[in-house]
Amino acid sequence: MAYKRVEIPRAELERQREICFGIRERIAASGRRPLALVDTYGCQQNEADSEELRGYIELMGYGFTDDENAADLIVVNTCAVRGHAEMRVLGNVGALVHAKARNPGLLVAVCGCMVQQPHMAEKIKKSFRVVDLVFGPHELWRFPELYKRARDTRRRVFMAPPSEGVVAEGLPVKRSGSVKAWLSIMYGCNNFCTYCIVPYVRGRERSRRFDDVVAEARGLVEAGYKDITLLGQNVNSYGRDLDEGRDFADLIRAINGIPGDFLIRFMTSHPRDATEKLFRAMAECEKCAKHIHLPVQSGSDRILREMNRHYGREKYLEEVRLARSLMPELVLTTDIIVGFPGETEADFNETMSLIEEVRYDAMFTFIFSPREGTKAAAMPDPVPREEKQKWFDRLVERANEISAEKHAAYIGTRQRVLVDGATGRSPWNLSARTNGGRLVHLKGGEELIGRFIDADINGGNTWALYGVPADAE
Ligand code: SAH
Ligand code: SF4
Ligand code: F3S
Repeated sequence: MAYKRVEIPRAELERQREICFGIRERIAASGRRPLALVDTYGCQQNEADSEELRGYIELMGYGFTDDENAADLIVVNTCAVRGHAEMRVLGNVGALVHAKARNPGLLVAVCGCMVQQPHMAEKIKKSFRVVDLVFGPHELWRFPELYKRARDTRRRVFMAPPSEGVVAEGLPVKRSGSVKAWLSIMYGCNNFCTYCIVPYVRGRERSRRFDDVVAEARGLVEAGYKDITLLGQNVNSYGRDLDEGRDFADLIRAINGIPGDFLIRFMTSHPRDATEKLFRAMAECEKCAKHIHLPVQSGSDRILREMNRHYGREKYLEEVRLARSLMPELVLTTDIIVGFPGETEADFNETMSLIEEVRYDAMFTFIFSPREGTKAAAMPDPVPREEKQKWFDRLVERANEISAEKHAAYIGTRQRVLVDGATGRSPWNLSARTNGGRLVHLKGGEELIGRFIDADINGGNTWALYGVPADAE
């Protein structure tokens, strides 16, 4: 089996840090601080990985920039989930030839899910000469070593598949914000939904140890973070691969027990194993946000079976009813795929009726994208793209209307929100989130950033709410 759990020994990680310090000394001796740019595509898991890459890069003595022409090191952390994401990456990587022509010392690294696919690693090797270093998600922990090899040898370094499913504890992290933090609790996925590339590029499920996760959460709370998102492709199966006898609901309860005023969020829950135990933990833990992202993918039992989702429409709807009965204020969001191979208009109409029944607060909608090596990519797919696009447009239009209706219901209410940043735009100069994760544009002083405040909501549309701090009136 190519993917087994491998815990990286502390001594190995120590060695990576030593390499960073060696690089740092050389940089210090050169008298010029080089700059790095880390560009991230894809999901929050990738955002979290990029924060670890930045942690290493900062240890090496680099500063950071957003300008590719000012950068001495560019790391592109890629996503493979849909063709569109890959095309964007390839376009942007190809365009780096200009930056490299200006600065021949520039080192370009491409990492992440896209290059864990053998055909993509090959494509970059052959057709993207601008790329100096390629490594997959399982190699991230030894970025310093790979970087050094590419720099010292001035040869292209390719560390692509196959690889093991690693769990590396204690990597340095440079977090992007001071209010919200990502916390990976597990890696990989065992579900093999027939359309999805993730299990192939991220490997089998590996949970981090319970105490390690709780300790990291405690550290984040102590450092002042107010909004902690627990990450995994399917957080509901957290702990199944460990012998610790504790599951995701136990984890929420343990983190809820950490003293302090903060919110616990999580992504993503698979409907197959969203249990009453989880909903009860959410309902009973006052720090757990009353929001669940529960991707349904389709409203048709036949398509759900073809997708290998292991639940049917009725089971899903029962879960939603149960969750809402325990948490009346629950915010519910989802993902939907339109145009799965063999989907008919009748199947699609089942999806339309499901969204009427559930009335999601927000939906993420995608047109099916065949991914090389997955089962669905080999299924007959007779419906033309234009037809899928029409269905998609119908879905999006209705989804947007429902979101706007949901948001309109907030107008005139007072909400406890967490102010998480400045927008740089007037007059709605602050952004905030409700407990359920709805975006609120606020007018107020920047000293409110990082604080929970009451806000009076006075407007709303499909995408956001608008409001003012309650005591500002
Ligand atoms: N682990 C998460 C989803 C990760 S991918 C889960 O199971 O819910 C995020 C979303 O991308 C999926 O929920 C799905 O809606 C969409 N997606 C994944 N593969 C896709 C494909 N091949 N084509 C179109 N959409 C896809
Ligand atoms: Fe992909 Fe399914 Fe795993 Fe989600 S649960 S990452 S959609 S295989
Ligand atoms: Fe994309 Fe990899 Fe996340 S494929 S969605 S970046 S796990």
